[in-house]
Amino acid sequence: MMKLLGTRELETKRLLLRRFVLEDAEDMYYNWASDPEVTKYLTWPTHSSCEITKMLLREWISKYKDEDYFNWAIEYKETGKVIGNISVVKFNEAILSADMGYCMSRSLWGNGIMPEALTEVIDYLLNEVGLNRVAACHAVENPKSGRVMEKAGMKMDGILRQAGKNNQGICDEVWYSIIKSDKR
Ligand SMILES: CC(C)(COP(=O)(O)OP(=O)(O)OC[C@H]1O[C@@H](n2cnc3c(N)ncnc32)[C@H](O)[C@@H]1OP(=O)(O)O)[C@@H](O)C(=O)NCCC(=O)NCCS
Repeated sequence: MMKLLGTRELETKRLLLRRFVLEDAEDMYYNWASDPEVTKYLTWPTHSSCEITKMLLREWISKYKDEDYFNWAIEYKETGKVIGNISVVKFNEAILSADMGYCMSRSLWGNGIMPEALTEVIDYLLNEVGLNRVAACHAVENPKSGRVMEKAGMKMDGILRQAGKNNQGICDEVWYSIIKSDKR
């Protein structure tokens, strides 16, 4: 049975996954939203000012009242700073399936942080919310995101040719998923 629990706080060894607050705007802007290397393969434009980040955060925060809205700030416990985000970018209630998106500060890439966050969020969505499937895709040119999916226990479904568009233009999408009956 599905229980739409919304963005509940989750914790891992190094991370606190929590709701964004407006005061996170500066960290979000400086740590990742203003970095063109972070947004290179993403669908949204690099933020040109912290005001834009603030506007977006206002919108996100207003959605937390919706129980089918899942969008976490990734707080690095060691520094207390918000270093990235992980969210459900598309929710399909009819088939109990969620597509994930995530990004984080370049200064911390390569430490297994996003796999740690994604693993926790997958557990939450499958075991607490009661979804059957969690999926994600990355541009063929961005294989490091595929490594995140693999480390979180997802398996490759296949490639959808020229099916997406990011800041580099039209791209081939590599899709991954995990379903409840998969052994982890
Ligand atoms: C993709 C991303 C979330 C990975 O997060 P992470 O916490 O660095 O993940 P990992 O530490 O597990 O590293 C994943 C892969 O990134 C690559 N990588 C590691 N350190 C790196 C560095 N300093 N610079 C560039 N790439 C690096 C490696 O290929 C690594 O795989 P490996 O462990 O098999 O060597 C992060 O790079 C990011 O935010 N990228 C920009 C946004 C983005 O692409 N989001 C996903 C869109 S689908």
